[in-house]
Amino acid sequence: MQTNKENNAGGVVASSAPQRAPLKETTKSNVVNEADGLHKDSVNSDSLEDKDKQKWSLDNFEIGRPLGKGKFGNVYLAREKSSKFIVALKVLFKSQLQKSNVEHQLRREIEIQAHLRHPNILRLYGYFHDAVRVYLILEYAPRGELYKEMQAQPHSRFDEKRSAKYIMQLANALKYCHTKKVIHRDIKPENLLLSLRGDLKIADFGWSVHAPSSRRTTLCGTLDYLPPEMVEGKAHDEKVDLWSLGVLCYEFLCGKPPFEAESNSDTYKRICSVDLRFPSHVSDKAKDLMVKLLRHSPRDRLSLDGVLQHPWIGQWTEDRSTVPPPKK
Ligand code: ADE
Repeated sequence: MQTNKENNAGGVVASSAPQRAPLKETTKSNVVNEADGLHKDSVNSDSLEDKDKQKWSLDNFEIGRPLGKGKFGNVYLAREKSSKFIVALKVLFKSQLQKSNVEHQLRREIEIQAHLRHPNILRLYGYFHDAVRVYLILEYAPRGELYKEMQAQPHSRFDEKRSAKYIMQLANALKYCHTKKVIHRDIKPENLLLSLRGDLKIADFGWSVHAPSSRRTTLCGTLDYLPPEMVEGKAHDEKVDLWSLGVLCYEFLCGKPPFEAESNSDTYKRICSVDLRFPSHVSDKAKDLMVKLLRHSPRDRLSLDGVLQHPWIGQWTEDRSTVPPPKK
């Protein structure tokens, strides 16, 4: 597998690589179908992992339908030609990365995500670039964006059972990240995908760093998921992800983030004063978990082990399948 230590992502922007043909939609002869390359024992990611010495290029892939849109480019379904292995190809435009001065963030994203191996973290198999674009070869998550699944639910929210399952899977993935001193810092529904079995995958490591950290990049977009220490621009550690887990738990159960407001400055005030109110349908156990995660002081927040042992998680995620007792 090419994690490309030698081909350091430092070369991502100043490239002398020959320009490739523009990314095209597929023709009839090379249509990439999501059923292709999935569930075939003979096709697995080993074929991608072996390609350590050789460099990837766009010629290695057939490109299919767009899977998602991002600020710096789009994600496409793609199939590696020789192995037929299905991946998601994230295509980023160098000009846009440069304009927003986020090349360092992309290098960090690649370096961090390529080294993580966990069932609830999307794999990054490798990357390559040409004169115009950077391409990330990512695991394909067939059930797509969790955000869309949430929007499709009645009242745009999940029930307690499903929310507890996702929070447990996230807590497990974050526990793994934190043992490696990686803090994600951008846990929100838009950055979560679903596998074929409906398991959650953390997808975007664009804001992740090694702890401890101070923020030097300007915040853009929503403040909704950020803890007080980050909106106030203070030094922070992995406990920022505990806060975001509490925010996410609230959004799963209530259909909107807890500190949502008309303006960024009002959201800022609500975050810093921890202005937390629950709709009446939320259970006492769920409220207890969120209150314990959404603490202003990072050291007062419930640990990830505390989350995994919390009665609300236990209530909904225990295997309750009743196996009949053996006959005497
Ligand atoms: N949308 C964005 N990234 C994706 C991925 N890796 N798999 C499926 N859908 C996606």
